[in-house]
Amino acid sequence: MAYQVVIPAAGQGKRMGAGRNKLFLPLDGIPVLIHTLKVFEEDGECSGIILAIHPDDEQAFKQLLMQYGIQKVTSFVYGGKERQDSVYGGVKALAVDGTVLVHDGARPFIKQQTIHELVKAAEKDGAAIAAVPVKDTIKKAEDLQVTETIERSSLWAVQTPQAFRISVLRKAHEEAAKNDFVGTDDASLVERLPHKVVIIEGDYDNIKLTTPEDVYFAEAILRKRQNQGRL
Ligand code: CTP
Ligand code: MG
Repeated sequence: MAYQVVIPAAGQGKRMGAGRNKLFLPLDGIPVLIHTLKVFEEDGECSGIILAIHPDDEQAFKQLLMQYGIQKVTSFVYGGKERQDSVYGGVKALAVDGTVLVHDGARPFIKQQTIHELVKAAEKDGAAIAAVPVKDTIKKAEDLQVTETIERSSLWAVQTPQAFRISVLRKAHEEAAKNDFVGTDDASLVERLPHKVVIIEGDYDNIKLTTPEDVYFAEAILRKRQNQGRL
């Protein structure tokens, strides 16, 4: 059940438009990245965190880790141009074999239960991803003219964490690098090996802070959790 986690945190947060990496943004006074790291810090099954960062953020992040008592970060790697490059850097730094999770620094609301279900599924099947059923009707269009309505019941909105047998993820990244393939998530690299990927149904709270309105959603999720804690 033990696992390591690679956390890509080396983005620039351009769509958030905060003027610096969005992972420094405070939620309830605590930076987004610290919220995310705390989940793994407090999970007894997590044996180590590999953090991919931008060199410009190194000092500030290291300072925050000290301030908030985050002790499980076993290695820092410098991220690359694309998220995929940052994850690959983290994968190369994995010490022992076993199971690895890849989880966006920008998703602070991941639950331990989902993490553990993913790890179990990856131990069994080699690759598992968190996802939720798509709620909206999705259409394809060209030049604003609809070309197709996709059957919604087969659609899933994919999140992180994504969990893998380390050998599978390493192979997937090596193959992608060899073929200049850039995917929007790690599972897409595994799919093209080919290797099966199973879905673990996660929850809608596990948002990625991407654009400014996501900060309001995040504050609402935090408030809900604080109220639940008081019950
Ligand atoms: N990430 C990374 N290295 C990159 C790009 C992204 O490690 N070259 C990380 C981000 O820090 C984030 C996660 O991957 O935790 C998901 O990426 P995204 O939400 O796109 O964040 P940004 O790339 O920072 O945002 P944007 O695309 O708006 O610039
Ligand atoms: Mg990005």
